Amino acid sequence: MTPEAIRALVGAGRIDRRVYTDPAIFALEIERIFARAWIYVGHDSQVPRPGDFFTTSVAARPVVMIRDDDGAIRVLRNRCGHRGAMVVTQRSGSARLLRCPYHGWTFRRDGALDAVPLADGYDGSGFDRCNPAYGMPKLARVANYRGFVFASLAADGPDLETFLGPARGSLDNMVERAPDGALEIAGGCFRAVQRNNWKIYLENLHDGVHAPVVHQASIEASRSAAARPDARPSFALDVVAANGAGYRTMGQLQVNCYPHGHSDMRGFRRTDADDPQFAAYVASLSARLGRERAAEVLADNRHNAMVYPSFSVHPAFQQLRVIIPQCVERTVIEVWCLRMKGAPPLLHRRTIAFANAVHSPASIVKVDDLEAYERVQNGLAHDAPAWVSAERGAAGDPAVAASALDERFIRNQYAAWNDYMAGAA
Ligand code: FES
Ligand SMILES: [Fe+2]
Repeated sequence: MTPEAIRALVGAGRIDRRVYTDPAIFALEIERIFARAWIYVGHDSQVPRPGDFFTTSVAARPVVMIRDDDGAIRVLRNRCGHRGAMVVTQRSGSARLLRCPYHGWTFRRDGALDAVPLADGYDGSGFDRCNPAYGMPKLARVANYRGFVFASLAADGPDLETFLGPARGSLDNMVERAPDGALEIAGGCFRAVQRNNWKIYLENLHDGVHAPVVHQASIEASRSAAARPDARPSFALDVVAANGAGYRTMGQLQVNCYPHGHSDMRGFRRTDADDPQFAAYVASLSARLGRERAAEVLADNRHNAMVYPSFSVHPAFQQLRVIIPQCVERTVIEVWCLRMKGAPPLLHRRTIAFANAVHSPASIVKVDDLEAYERVQNGLAHDAPAWVSAERGAAGDPAVAASALDERFIRNQYAAWNDYMAGAA
């Protein structure tokens, strides 16, 4: 496709339906967006000791994040230098050497080939054990921002901090909320295989218009449960009921758009709690940061933030969402919970309750989103209408933050999409 043909797919607030359905466009997205941008790989707490590893994928390539002997985190292509088999098949673990399950070639923690069986069989062949071409290649760039590990297949481009830009604020806030100033991944993840293009998911992240409609059933259920005479205060009920905030409230929620397609949205859920453990948490945070700074960190209530194209965080409730496109109409979303080091158990219980209430594939909230995404995907499968609309809020002053009723953040994602796809990024 020529750059002109690509640019013609996205007009002012209008997107050609093929952007969500054409496998050739999807293949181009993987090479031009996911293979160029910084992609979230994992959290450094998943690999605390040398030899600890975690597997995932970057731009459709299987990768291993592994702690090397010198303490550095490497991200290696999970591909054997012999015949190309995936070397590490476990999701996570620890190993002195990585051994390919096919013919037993072994690799060191930096990806270098360590040994091959029947080595003398290669005499006279040109095979050289020290040639990096026989190893597990390192990804071109790896960087760790406050525990969040990103990698890029591209050797050039902005460094990670420049790429994140103001979106860094949400990652900072997440870390600063921990009394000990550090986070760790807690347990495994929710993993949903969604029958929708990856962008349909991103276009929902700050969408305050869908919430009272799509989530009507769970809002009503939470309201009637809360109204029962024997009802007790429930964090999970409050979390679900918040989707019922009216358009006026949603219109007051600020949505900020940043370069490279990133964005964030200020919070609409109450994040404090009337509980002695919450008071103890505030006290320990204040002991580290001082009262004033601790109050600032807690008042910085961000509902969620998008690091385009692969990562979203909920700072106040310590959730991560990882976007892993599989094909044009299938996307894996993983939801991870973090534990704030030094925080009382109540805080982590709320993190888990939030994940169960909102992010679990079995939650009464998420199932309705999944249904909506799939209906969009199905609706776009055929020729008409040719365009999707993301025009709401077009008259807004670009110098002023948008609201959760505007689709400006979607247009901001497509500005980045165009830059990557048509070559400017
Ligand atoms: S493919 Fe890995 S050892 Fe043969
Ligand atoms: Fe939703």
